Amino acid sequence: MTKLVLGIETSCDETSAAVTSGRRVLSNVVTSSLHLHKKYGGVVPEIASRYHVEYIVEVVKKSLEIAGKDMTDIGLVAVTNGPGLVGALLTGISFAKALSYGLKIPIIGVNHVLAHLYSSFLSEGEVPKFPFVGLVVSGGHTALFLCKDVDRRKLLGQTQDDAVGEAYDKVSKILGLGYPGGPIIEKTARSSDGSGSINFPKSYLGKDSLDFSFSGIKTAVLYYVRKAPVKSVPDVCRAFQEAALDALVENTVAACIKTKAATVVVGGGVAANKRLREKLDAAGRLNGFKVFFPEFRYCLDNGAMIGVLGGELYKRGYRSGLNLNAEPNLRA
Ligand code: KG4
Ligand code: ZN
Repeated sequence: MTKLVLGIETSCDETSAAVTSGRRVLSNVVTSSLHLHKKYGGVVPEIASRYHVEYIVEVVKKSLEIAGKDMTDIGLVAVTNGPGLVGALLTGISFAKALSYGLKIPIIGVNHVLAHLYSSFLSEGEVPKFPFVGLVVSGGHTALFLCKDVDRRKLLGQTQDDAVGEAYDKVSKILGLGYPGGPIIEKTARSSDGSGSINFPKSYLGKDSLDFSFSGIKTAVLYYVRKAPVKSVPDVCRAFQEAALDALVENTVAACIKTKAATVVVGGGVAANKRLREKLDAAGRLNGFKVFFPEFRYCLDNGAMIGVLGGELYKRGYRSGLNLNAEPNLRA
C-alpha cells in the first residue's frame, strides 16, 4: 500500500487521530476530556462521547495538517472498534465509516488492547520479535497474551475484577489525591523510603493461574485508611504500588516460563510507570527475557498505534465493511 493510513481512536476519554506509513508516524494528535472527568474521579461515558463528537473533525484535520497531507493521500481508515465505552467507540466508528463511504477508501476495525502492544513497534530503534508475551496494563484492561504474530495470539490471563490502572485511580480517590491516579500515586510514592512497614496483600488466584485481581488490594487500602488517620500518604502509595506491580511482574515471569518466551512487550497507560519499568527490567535480567516498553508519548491512548496495527492487518488481507460495529468487551 503506497498510500497512508489514518488511525482514529475514541474508545475512552482521548480523541486521537494519526497519519501513519508502515511503522512511521507522520502525525499523532491527541486531545482529552480528562479535565471534565476529574471532579467525578473517573470517566463519565456520556461526557466522553460528547467530547469526541465535538473534537473529532478538528483532530483529524490537525493530523493531516501536521503530516502535510490531505484526505486524497489516505488509502485506509483504521479505527478502534473495541473494547471500550460503547458511545465513545461509536463516535469514532461512525466518523470513520463516513470517511470510508464518502471518499471510497477501505476501513478496518482495530482492537484497542492489542494496539497498545503495538505501541512498542512505533519506535525508530529495535522492535520486538514474535513470539512474545504481551502485558497490557491500562485503565480498562489488564491481560497477558502469548502473541505469535500480528494476527495470532492466545489470552493467558486477565483481571477478574479491576484493571490495574483502575485500581490506581480508585486508591487515589480513596486518598483524596485526584484523577487520574496513576501518575499521582507514582510521584507521591517516590517520597516514601518504605520504612512505614505497611503491607497490602496480593490476591492469590491458584497455583497455575495467570489471572489478576486488584480489588482486594484496593479494599485493603480502604480499610487501612478507615481504621485510623493516615500518618504518611506516601507510605500508603508506595505499599499499594509495590503490591500491585509485584502482581504484574510475578505473572509476567510465570507466563515467560510457561511459554518459553524470551521477549516481553508492555503496553497501556500503566506502562508509563517508571517503577514498573525498573521491576520488569530487573525480572528480565534475572529470568533471561528482554522487555520492550513504548515511548512515553505512545503509552496512553493514541491514534498512531491504531493506524500502525490497522495498516499491518490490511497488508495481510484483513478488511472491515460499513457494517463495522462497536465491540465493547475484550475478545481475545
Ligand atoms: O491506556 P490508557 O490511556 O486508557 C485505557 O485504555 O484505559 O490508560 C489510562 C490509565 C489510567 O488508569 C491511569 O491512572 C494509568 O493509565 N496511568 C498510570 C500512569 N500513567 C497513567 N498508572 C500508573 N503509573 C503511571 N505513571
Ligand atoms: Zn487504552
